Amino acid sequence: MTFLASAPAKVILFGEHFVVENEPAIAAALDLRVEVSVNLLDEKRFEIRSGNLFSFVRLDDLLSNHYSVNQHLKPLYVILRKVIEKYGFEGGLKFIIKSPIPMGVGLGSSAAVFVAFSAGLLKAVAGEYDLEKVVKLASEGEILAHGRPSGIDPTISANGGVIVYRKSEGFIPLKAAVPLHLVIGVSGEVRSTATMVEKVLSLKKRFPEIFEPLYHAAGHLAIEAAKAIERGDLTSIGMLMNINHGLLSSLGVSTMNLERLVHAARDAGALGAKITGAGGGGAIISICPQNLLETVASAIKRSGGFPLISKVSDRGVSVIER
Ligand code: MEV
Repeated sequence: MTFLASAPAKVILFGEHFVVENEPAIAAALDLRVEVSVNLLDEKRFEIRSGNLFSFVRLDDLLSNHYSVNQHLKPLYVILRKVIEKYGFEGGLKFIIKSPIPMGVGLGSSAAVFVAFSAGLLKAVAGEYDLEKVVKLASEGEILAHGRPSGIDPTISANGGVIVYRKSEGFIPLKAAVPLHLVIGVSGEVRSTATMVEKVLSLKKRFPEIFEPLYHAAGHLAIEAAKAIERGDLTSIGMLMNINHGLLSSLGVSTMNLERLVHAARDAGALGAKITGAGGGGAIISICPQNLLETVASAIKRSGGFPLISKVSDRGVSVIER
């Protein structure tokens, strides 16, 4: 029997970085999905294949923590061990991970992998999964991969749709009154979320008097944006994205390439454009009238970016049996 788990990529529409310090932020799931297939094995061992990475660990070695694997696969084995121990699983499993989501560019590729992996694993070992358990396991993976994440990435990937999220309070789903048409521009510069988060936090620590009000402003901005999304006010959403981009630039996470892509999108008719995710490279998002999606995508391409036209998707994590 095969369990086929899948989970969506995400964009942060408003409030990345500020969310790490407990300000509200807004995230949306995309129609790009990671797939993880899980098969039961007769042997007591755990195989994981992801792109050209492959590893296996025997049950005994996993339980006694005597194994070494590629650092990108390590968080998956940590999640695996937790679940195996909790449910006293005595068999073996094979995982194959397929991801069309570019890695390290702010689209939540790692969270989507951890979410799909955790849901598929729970289904195979415990017969069922719930979203709370999946988010908890995936968040542990995120901590190993990204240091000090806010938890927004696994939450949106597990739940889908559009959410407003606050670290201390969890999330509320938002109902967008009109479809949100996005053009993403991937810059080609890959960076580490953990490094960017630490860089921003140390800047804030150095100039607390300046950054405290900026962080509060970003929190208010996310609340205004949530209201604009619920009343379908695309003009305000675009303006708030532009302001949010300015705040992110002041945190030091913009680059020349990202500025080029943001301005190319705005000049081509996007209603607003900003960095999405940790910045320092990675990607930008723009919100566009539907008839200008191709025009904005071409402008991003001419400016050296890789454009992705994507819709917000209501689908969170799912597992089917085959
Ligand atoms: C990552 O997608 C967004 C950041 O705010 C980090 C986090 O919230 O974990 C930069």
